[in-house]
Amino acid sequence: MTLNLKSPGAGRKPFLPITEIEHAAFCKSEDELPAKPLLDEIKVNVRWQKIPLKYLRLDAEELDQRIHDARQKLGTKVVVLGHHYQREEVIKYADFQGDSYLLSQQAASQAEAEYIIFCGVHFMAETARILCAPHQRVILPNITAGCSMADMAPTGDVLDAWDDLEDLLGPNSVVPITYMNSTAEIKALCGRNGGIVCTSSNAAGTFEWAFQRGSRVLFLPDQHLGRNTALNMGIDLDEMIVWNPFKPLGGHTPERLRESKVILWQGHCSVHTRFTPRQIETARQRYPDIKVIVHPECTMETVQAADMNGSTEVIRKTINEAPAGSQWAVGTEVSLVNRLAKNNPDKVIFCLDPIVCPCSTMYRIHPAYLSWVLDSLLDREIVNEIRVDDETRRHAHTALERMLEVS
Ligand code: 13P
Ligand code: SF4
Repeated sequence: MTLNLKSPGAGRKPFLPITEIEHAAFCKSEDELPAKPLLDEIKVNVRWQKIPLKYLRLDAEELDQRIHDARQKLGTKVVVLGHHYQREEVIKYADFQGDSYLLSQQAASQAEAEYIIFCGVHFMAETARILCAPHQRVILPNITAGCSMADMAPTGDVLDAWDDLEDLLGPNSVVPITYMNSTAEIKALCGRNGGIVCTSSNAAGTFEWAFQRGSRVLFLPDQHLGRNTALNMGIDLDEMIVWNPFKPLGGHTPERLRESKVILWQGHCSVHTRFTPRQIETARQRYPDIKVIVHPECTMETVQAADMNGSTEVIRKTINEAPAGSQWAVGTEVSLVNRLAKNNPDKVIFCLDPIVCPCSTMYRIHPAYLSWVLDSLLDREIVNEIRVDDETRRHAHTALERMLEVS
């Protein structure tokens, strides 16, 4: 059989998404974390969205007052959703805080609000747009708040890979599962092809759902969450392969692809892959009674060395409910770890990584942007509205609905 390959192959140079490179620019010391006027933060050499000049010089207190006043005036017209990785100065304004799963549920049930302001990253706001009612408007305060992992799965590359897999293996021979951290078009591809969306809190359930419907899964874009979940289900490492989008057929022979049970997209989270078994060892040497909890976006080696793993909500709940005096080393984004430490002064809580590296894209939601989008609403202007075309929305909705039913 001759394959008419679409996946790009040797001609194309591998590239790193700019968001991946930018993460390093945000590594800082603990005392640099509190929000400074945007004018000072903007000096960090990454992309920021342009904003009216008057917001650049406002300090944290001035912004706090403005946000507070605007929220009072807008009342129930606005609901603010905040992901656990948001800065303190922003998350305090969230009506609902949560992991990706909880926030998607919230987005689907906020029928009262005219405007949903999503303090998180682009794929989360896009998911809210897909799940909320058509008349509601979703706003992302800083449009450059993306996700480096989602950027590792450009829609065109995924569509090409899908075509190649169907050509080689035949229609309906692969069930696609996409992690929430992906574009609306990829979610739509899953909806159209008998697939499903997952988050870190329901990946196991969605794998079970998929294997009830087929014998092979394409999981994207996070190879680590996919591998950790498949291993937990008893799938052997030999039955998993990593699809490299820069190579023809993902870098595999047709035979190897036919034998595979799980095809993992070659993507990762630049924040979570910083955590290592070595850091866990060091934490255990310093605190023999320490419990180590990490996010499942960490590598297989790190997840296996930890005592437990789970979504940001699982991490939050586990530590909040732990007995006084317990000790926790945490492998997830530092803003959440710092918040947990502050709210649980009777426990020892610290980040596994000694260098403080916030998720650079989450960090772009500076309070100046929140203030700007709220003030704009008061002026009857909607800035940074997230839109998804009807056709994409319809199919992506199918894949998200399947997820909400599984969980
Ligand atoms: P959660 O769904 O666990 O909040 O994870 C989202 C995310 O992007 C973690 O990096
Ligand atoms: Fe994306 Fe990683 Fe940031 Fe989560 S922590 S939003 S996966 S870059």
